[in-house]
Amino acid sequence: MKTYNIAVIPGDGTGPEVIGEGLKVLKAAAKKFKFGLKTKVFPFGGKHYLETGKLVDEADEAELRKFDAIYLGAIGLSGAGAKNVAPGILEKNILLKLRFDFDQYINLRPVKLYPGVASPIAGVSPETMDYVVVRENTGGVYTGMGGIMMKGTPNEIASQEWVYNRFQVDRCLRYAFELAKKRHSKKAPFRGLSAEAKAAGKTARLTLCGKTNVLTNVFGLWERAAKEMAEEYPTVELAYRHVDAICLLMVQDPGQFDVIVTDNMFGDIITDLGAACQGGLGVAAGGNLNPDKGGVSMYEPIGGTAPDWTGKNGINPIAAIGAAALMIGNLGETKAAAAIEAAIAKTTPRMKTQLAGQMGWTTTQVGDLVAKSL
Ligand code: IPM
Ligand code: MN
Repeated sequence: MKTYNIAVIPGDGTGPEVIGEGLKVLKAAAKKFKFGLKTKVFPFGGKHYLETGKLVDEADEAELRKFDAIYLGAIGLSGAGAKNVAPGILEKNILLKLRFDFDQYINLRPVKLYPGVASPIAGVSPETMDYVVVRENTGGVYTGMGGIMMKGTPNEIASQEWVYNRFQVDRCLRYAFELAKKRHSKKAPFRGLSAEAKAAGKTARLTLCGKTNVLTNVFGLWERAAKEMAEEYPTVELAYRHVDAICLLMVQDPGQFDVIVTDNMFGDIITDLGAACQGGLGVAAGGNLNPDKGGVSMYEPIGGTAPDWTGKNGINPIAAIGAAALMIGNLGETKAAAAIEAAIAKTTPRMKTQLAGQMGWTTTQVGDLVAKSL
């Protein structure tokens, strides 16, 4: 029997509550699909920082590196605590630090409408809203190049540079092309393809999201690299959309998307829009992946700490459970991952809404429903 070692970072606010349900479902899946789970909890987060002054250091990372994956709730402070910590401290020294130091260069964020979930977009269905955003996760404007000069004077200059190298772009595109190729087959091609494209042997569509009309340098590079790589993937139709148009189309015609690949900043923004389209942050799961051999990936619900809901047993755990499914699937338990996904799809129609406090069930009850539907 295979046993997976998972580092668990419940974090702040409602993080521990949703992670608790994710682990509940994972344990049920482990029993059913006969794999072992070993977990160790790490205290990183805003509360821990306030209490101890500690963020994440090298020794912590050396320990985390020994695990098969990291399962993260959410990190952030609210109220008086938040006022004592400048914005960016927790993000840069915990979440982004782990993404960078573990070279988790892919942020995988499925935009999937589960059955029975109300989307703010009229007329969509689980069939017409089922795509994946591949967000580059360690480069771009998040690299942190730039600075401030003449601070506090009327002449103050602030800059933050949007940088990519070919290597970062290529490895992200590679992942996206492979994913597009894998998601569909000749027998079951992506439904958004035209008859001509299907006749020409296409089975999937990869849409590059950029801004080649303004950020001509950076997205010129992305577009050239994508076009070159497309030659290696004859079954994948490569499309291009500017990021502003993507926002429009994610609302007006989500059915045209299969896999979207984009840079870090745009990916950050469009996946919140994606989360809204799929019923809210309560449903949106993600994974920060290092797909390379020996890489340690980190899975998390996209949402934050939901301070207003902390301790009320009212937060929606579906996103955290979905992140657990992503995690176990990528670790190799694809049957268990599919079963968790199916159990989520059986549970969502039984929930009144996907909003905190309005689910018709408590947090723990939703976790129970999913675990029992496995
Ligand atoms: C996300 C978050 C982070 C990001 C923040 C908390 C640094 O918004 O995971 O999407 O910008 O990547
Ligand atoms: Mn974000």
